[in-house]
Amino acid sequence: MALLLKNAHVVDPSVELDGIVDVLIENDRIVNVGEGLSAEGAEVVDLTGKYLVPGLVDMHVHLREPGFETKGDIESETAAAAKGGFTGVCSMPNTDPVTDNGVVIEYIKSVAAAKGHCRVYPSGAMTRGLKGEIISEMGDMVAHGCVAFTDDGRGIQGAGMMRRAMDYGKMFDKVFMSHCQDEDLVGDGQINEGAVSTRLGLLGWPAEGEELQIARDIMIAELTGAKLHIQHISTARGLDMVRAAKAKGLPVTCEATPHHLFLTEDAIDGTYDTCLKVNPPLRTAADAEALIEGVLDGSVDAIVTDHAPHADWEKSREFELAPFGMIGLETSLALINTNLVKTGKMGYGRMVELMSSKPREILGLEPVSIAAGSLADITVFDADAAWTVSEDEFASHAKNSGFKGAELLGRATDVFVGGKRTLADGVVC
Ligand code: DOR
Ligand code: ZN
Repeated sequence: MALLLKNAHVVDPSVELDGIVDVLIENDRIVNVGEGLSAEGAEVVDLTGKYLVPGLVDMHVHLREPGFETKGDIESETAAAAKGGFTGVCSMPNTDPVTDNGVVIEYIKSVAAAKGHCRVYPSGAMTRGLKGEIISEMGDMVAHGCVAFTDDGRGIQGAGMMRRAMDYGKMFDKVFMSHCQDEDLVGDGQINEGAVSTRLGLLGWPAEGEELQIARDIMIAELTGAKLHIQHISTARGLDMVRAAKAKGLPVTCEATPHHLFLTEDAIDGTYDTCLKVNPPLRTAADAEALIEGVLDGSVDAIVTDHAPHADWEKSREFELAPFGMIGLETSLALINTNLVKTGKMGYGRMVELMSSKPREILGLEPVSIAAGSLADITVFDADAAWTVSEDEFASHAKNSGFKGAELLGRATDVFVGGKRTLADGVVC
C-alpha cells in the first residue's frame, strides 16, 4: 500500500533538501519526493509543522538479550528506540552468552524480527567471551549478519591481542569499535579522578586510563590498516588524538554520548546518584566543552547513547556496587535538539549527519536518504514539543536515566521502518 507523508519540513544534506516537500512511499521504499504530490488510494499522513529526516541510527546500544532480561530485552529496548525516534540500533555483544559466534547473532536477529520495534544491526565480540584471549568466530558472525566487531563493556587489554584481532578480522571489511579502558590503570575507579572523586571519597577513573588505549589503538589501526572507531569518547585529549589520526588520513572515527556532552562530574554530589555512574565516567566541564566543539567541527562522527539499561535493584545498591551505565534512547534527540540546535550551535543538517548518515556509513549499512529509490526509514519529530524527562514515561524496561527532571525541547512523533509505522503520534506501534 502507498503512504503519502505531506507537508513536513524535510532536512537531508545528502540530497541538499531543506524545505517543505511531500514524500511518497510504496512498500518499503520512497518512490517520489516533491511539492504537492498526490497518489490515488494512498494513506495520507499530514505532518504540517514537523521535521522529517532520514531514520536515526544509534550505533551503540545494549539490548541485554540474551541473558540479562531483568535489565531489558530486545522487545522493550527497541520500543525505547522507536519512542526516541530511531529506525535502527547496533546492539553490543556483552550478552550472556556473549555475542561471539553466528548462533547468537542469528538469535538476536530472529528475536528482533519477531518482536522488535526497529532494525537491529548486531555487533559481535572481537574475542571469545570478551575475555581478550582468543579471537572470536568473526567469519561465522559476518556470515550471519554481524556489522562490526567490539569488546565493548570491557575492551581488549593486550596490545598484541588487539593487533591480531584487527589483522585477522580486517579481511571482513568491518569496523573495529574500541571501548578504551586500561584495566590496570583504572582499577576499581568509580568516577573521573579529580577533585570530585576526592571530595566524595570515591576511587578515581583517570582520563589517562582511556587516553592510553586511544593512542594505542590508533597506532594499531595504522599498523594493521583496519578501520577503527573509538567508542564513547570522553576527554579533550582523546579527541585531539582522533583529530590527529584523521589529519594523517587514517581510517579512524569516533562517537560521543549526550551524557558526556551535557553532563559533567560536577553533577555527582553527596546524594551519590548511581544513574550518573557511567563508563567511561562523566568528565570535567572543559572535557565536555571540547567534545561539543568536536561535534560542531566534524571531529566527532556520530552521536550514540551507550543505552545501558539496569534493573532498579542494581542501581539502588551502594555507589561502588552499582553497575555502570545509563539509558539514553528516549532522550538523545531532545538533548541534541535542546542543547545544540535550539541554541543555534548547529543545524538539523549536521544533526542528520551525526545521528543518521555517519553511523550508517561507519557500520557499512545501506545509505538512506529522502529521495526516490531509498529505503523508507524515516524519523519525524516536533522540534518545539516541550517536555520533562520522567521515568513514568519510559518505554525502556529500565529507568536509569541521568537526565530525569530535565526540561527538553523536541520529541519524535512518527517513525517509519521500511515504510511501516513503528511510532504513530508518539505511541509505539
Ligand atoms: O556505562 C556503561 N555501561 N559503559 C559500558 O561500556 C558498558 C555499559 C553496560 O553494558 O552496562
Ligand atoms: Zn563501552
